[in-house]
Amino acid sequence: MKLDILLGLQWGDEGKGKIVDVLTPAYDVIARFQGGPNAGHTLEFNGIKHVLHTIPSGIFHPNKINIIGNGVVIDPVVFQKEIESLEKIGVNPVENLLISKKAHLILPTHKWIDAMLEEQKGERKVGSTLKGIGPTYTDKAARVGFRICDILANDFLDRFERIYKTHTDLLIKNSFDPQEEIATVFNNWLNALQTLLRFKLIDSEYEVNYFLKEERKVLAEGAQGTLLDIDFGSYPFVTSSNTVAAGACTGLGVAPNQTGRIIGIVKAYCTRVGNGPFPTELFDETGELLRKQGHEFGSTTGRPRRCGWLDLVALKYAIMINGVTEMVLTKPDVMDNFDTIKICTAYQMGDKITTRFPTEIDEEIIPVYKEFRGWNQKLSVEKDYENLPQAFKEYVAFIEEATGVPIRIVSTGPDRSETIIRA
Ligand code: IMP
Repeated sequence: MKLDILLGLQWGDEGKGKIVDVLTPAYDVIARFQGGPNAGHTLEFNGIKHVLHTIPSGIFHPNKINIIGNGVVIDPVVFQKEIESLEKIGVNPVENLLISKKAHLILPTHKWIDAMLEEQKGERKVGSTLKGIGPTYTDKAARVGFRICDILANDFLDRFERIYKTHTDLLIKNSFDPQEEIATVFNNWLNALQTLLRFKLIDSEYEVNYFLKEERKVLAEGAQGTLLDIDFGSYPFVTSSNTVAAGACTGLGVAPNQTGRIIGIVKAYCTRVGNGPFPTELFDETGELLRKQGHEFGSTTGRPRRCGWLDLVALKYAIMINGVTEMVLTKPDVMDNFDTIKICTAYQMGDKITTRFPTEIDEEIIPVYKEFRGWNQKLSVEKDYENLPQAFKEYVAFIEEATGVPIRIVSTGPDRSETIIRA
């Protein structure tokens, strides 16, 4: 059996959590491979909304195995809160959640360093979620990070003190004031490690490869989106991990020749939180309408998301980098009452027209748009793709033809039930 990978093709917030939850019945194992509590995967069923940050979105299905892979960074305090809220609603994650011993831990000092570095960037701020993601991956690459296996080591305290001292020296040197009671924050953090210790801490690469060999179906769940990838995103306005399909190989320990379907999630329009280029961003009332009707506010930070039209230049780039085999279109229902809908097909940069996603967007981009008539109808009342309005089907057909990738699922609302799976 091959590893299927599900990931976002834009700047995150494409609705991955809901789609993983919808697809979970067809899988035995759901595995997160990168990112950390900067993610906020929202799932809705039985009228209740759930937001997951670190835990895979398959957790609500009993008898499914969920894995937090080596590529993920874990904040024990956030993790503890997630576990508590799951247990409150009767989900017992201890039964079916496995955690890689190689995953790195986020310390409170990582969050403070994150805040300190963002502050120092001034105008060039990334707009980080300030969850400590960047500094934790920095320590990983610098070979001074603190991993899950360190909690299990006999010299745990020595290892902890080493990283604690390095961090506090840096913060003191920069006169950073965390404006929090340091001892209390660290006591809470150390206390939260007890929650992690309730779980099976494993060499998850062996587990994932064993499951695949045993013909069990494994889905890798991406976080953030392709355009936030550390290598291929709009650097430096990116996150600190590889969000692309290749990241699933390194973040879970699965060989590239063991990958199967690559399912790309694309929202019918674009959003972005944080700073950085966004060629199709709308600053007018249409952008405002997308934000309002799409409830486009960050599920981790509550920040309003920047909104704009669908960008085919960026989408085709994301499809190429990931080798997307099929797409899922989310949130077209947000535009149910739009008379006109636009899709960007090329960028005009100076006197040149390009369909390539530029490495650096340092001059003004004027998007070249194709206009579509709106469908002016409530999509979510239909359960059968064929019954959807003609204008909508033409819009979908255009995206499929332009990208050469089929759209297999259309999500017409946040609830599990508002999903159309095409024959
Ligand atoms: P960081 O990874 O928290 O440092 O944030 C880096 C950039 O990625 C910022 O622009 C964030 O707003 C963005 N970002 C991080 N995680 C997410 C996510 O899950 N969805 C959307 N944007 C994100």
